[in-house]
Amino acid sequence: MPESITITDNRTGESIEVPIVDGGVDATEWRKLLPNVWFYDPAFMTTAACSSSITELDGDNGILRYRGYPIEDLAEHSTYIEVAYLLIHGELPTAAQFDAWNHEITYHTFIHENMRKRFMEGFHYDAHPMGMLVSAVAALSTFYPEAKAIDDPEIRHKQIVRLIAKMPTIAACAHRFYSGMPFVYPDNSKQFTENFLNMMFNPVEWVDYSHPVLAKALDTLFILHADHEQNCSTTAMRVVGSSHADPYTACSAASAALYGPRHGGANEQVVRMLTEIGSIENVPDFVKSVKEGSGGRLQGFGHRVYKNYDPRATIIKKTAEDVFEVTGKNPLLDIALKLEEVALSDEYFTSRKLYPNVDFYSGLIYQAMSFPIDMFPVLFAIPRTSGWLAHWEELLEQDSRISRPRQLYIGEPEREYVAIDQR
Ligand code: CMC
Repeated sequence: MPESITITDNRTGESIEVPIVDGGVDATEWRKLLPNVWFYDPAFMTTAACSSSITELDGDNGILRYRGYPIEDLAEHSTYIEVAYLLIHGELPTAAQFDAWNHEITYHTFIHENMRKRFMEGFHYDAHPMGMLVSAVAALSTFYPEAKAIDDPEIRHKQIVRLIAKMPTIAACAHRFYSGMPFVYPDNSKQFTENFLNMMFNPVEWVDYSHPVLAKALDTLFILHADHEQNCSTTAMRVVGSSHADPYTACSAASAALYGPRHGGANEQVVRMLTEIGSIENVPDFVKSVKEGSGGRLQGFGHRVYKNYDPRATIIKKTAEDVFEVTGKNPLLDIALKLEEVALSDEYFTSRKLYPNVDFYSGLIYQAMSFPIDMFPVLFAIPRTSGWLAHWEELLEQDSRISRPRQLYIGEPEREYVAIDQR
């Protein structure tokens, strides 16, 4: 059988044969025969909006690879900073390249004092840290106006380093502000994740912020969250990037997309849901309410691409065990395990291929490590920044055109304007 489809325009009888390449057809071929006939594809269910060599995701087989390396290997052997290098540069660094990269990131962790004092401290006392982060990332563009020179590879590189390095500082700053604690400056003698934990929690005596197991666990979570091909926030990054906006503005748009409860806000919703369920006995009734539609969605379940299992969720479950050995078990874990058990033996969830995703267990780990619930989406944004920036670089190198989908107009046809006193 030929790997192609034949399209016939029944109005003219004309046909063309279009090859199927890598499971898809090229829309430029379609346009040749049917220039004014659109695909109606809300939410891009059937549309590949770009080609990319960064992350490979096979949802049916539960495969996730960054630049060809299985996520399981990276989570076990690598560090987030090394993975960020891999995403941006396409290759794992040599020891010398790693040292140079690590040094660069470490020495760009500080934020301008005006950013902290005048900008961050201008928020309302109980501002959500994700709202602060989205705004602060956009504000960075005003501190680095040269970032507009997106055609200059050196300037591009500098902003990539700055963004990856400053995200933890902004995140911790937001947390310290809304919890009424003094800001902790970055400590350049510490590694990326240790530094973040120190800025977050030092000197809170009930948090084990310098425990190596916790730093390793958080670093693993950062690796798992670093990229996920064309998800909602990465698509936002690419769409805004395609207008040639500077990377801070584009990253801010991506962070905004991540904030929603269907995307990076889901980890926050999982813990809220488990807290509301309250005890194991209430799990069956809760699942029933989800199925009947009155209980909302089962947060942390389901995925657009993974229809078998989410490989990140498998790794996270193991990471949770390591963390709970240090912090003690999160009391919500038993409810989560019961919920998973009930849902996975229920036809409603199995027939729709709904399995726990990355967010189902990550929130429990963050909570055990003393991160407030509001910080969970921020913890997602920190590592995803390297993925967004890898896609931004790729987009610019591909010299892509501006993103501009078509629409199906369903409004009124032309109408006559009626003056206000005659309506
Ligand atoms: N609980 C109950 N039912 C669900 C759920 C859920 N979590 N997810 C999907 N369904 C049902 C949905 O009602 C629909 O049923 P029906 O065919 O009867 O109408 C069917 O499953 C297909 O759902 P969909 O909304 O068409 O699926 P989607 O691919 O558009 O949405 C999703 C994917 C992740 C937004 C969705 O599964 C969801 O809302 N999950 C809960 C939020 C969540 O955990 N998000 C984190 C995603 S992973 C991290 C990330 O990448 O951001």
